[in-house]
Amino acid sequence: MRDMTLADVDAVLAIEQAVQTYPWTRGNFMDALNSGYVCRVDEMGGEIRGFAVLRLVLDEAELLSIGVAADQQRKGLGRALLLEMLDLACQKNMLRVFLEVRASNVAALALYRSAGFGEIGIRRDYYQNANGSEDAITMACELTGEING
Ligand SMILES: CC(C)(COP(=O)(O)OP(=O)(O)OC[C@H]1O[C@@H](n2cnc3c(N)ncnc32)[C@H](O)[C@@H]1OP(=O)(O)O)[C@@H](O)C(=O)NCCC(=O)NCCS
Repeated sequence: MRDMTLADVDAVLAIEQAVQTYPWTRGNFMDALNSGYVCRVDEMGGEIRGFAVLRLVLDEAELLSIGVAADQQRKGLGRALLLEMLDLACQKNMLRVFLEVRASNVAALALYRSAGFGEIGIRRDYYQNANGSEDAITMACELTGEING
């Protein structure tokens, strides 16, 4: 794991476009980097395999994006990226981490629950999808100094 740089954006964008139906744009990733968000990549043998973006605001953090290349999924990389973000949030003295996830995103929901996130709310029809719209589930993980997983 290492910090994402501008030189990584092409590779990160390629993963994002391959694994997300409504992907972040190049501009979204550039903005995240330029805004000083915590942007990390998992790199092995020169290949970017996954990434995560975390925004810190006062004493709360928000996981804005996380993705693992399709051919690298189910190997523990998503969990490792998420736990690293929780660990970094702890180090920055954040009290909790929030995120929003599509109600249909079974993989992400299972990952977040297994890492200690709990559901705290629903935003009805928040995301666009093929059927029109779907709910967003808001989740939070209280940081107690002990990271689950
Ligand atoms: C969500 C995502 C990051 C998980 O990455 P990953 O590297 O495959 O996840 P891991 O291998 O670390 O799996 C961790 C846990 O997540 C859950 N999980 C992961 N993929 C799953 C799937 N397809 N179905 C059900 N549960 C799944 C499991 O609980 C898994 O633990 P287990 O392997 O012990 O059963 C990956 O599926 C992805 O990039 N999805 C597309 C982008 C996305 O949806 N991002 C989140 C937006 S909010």
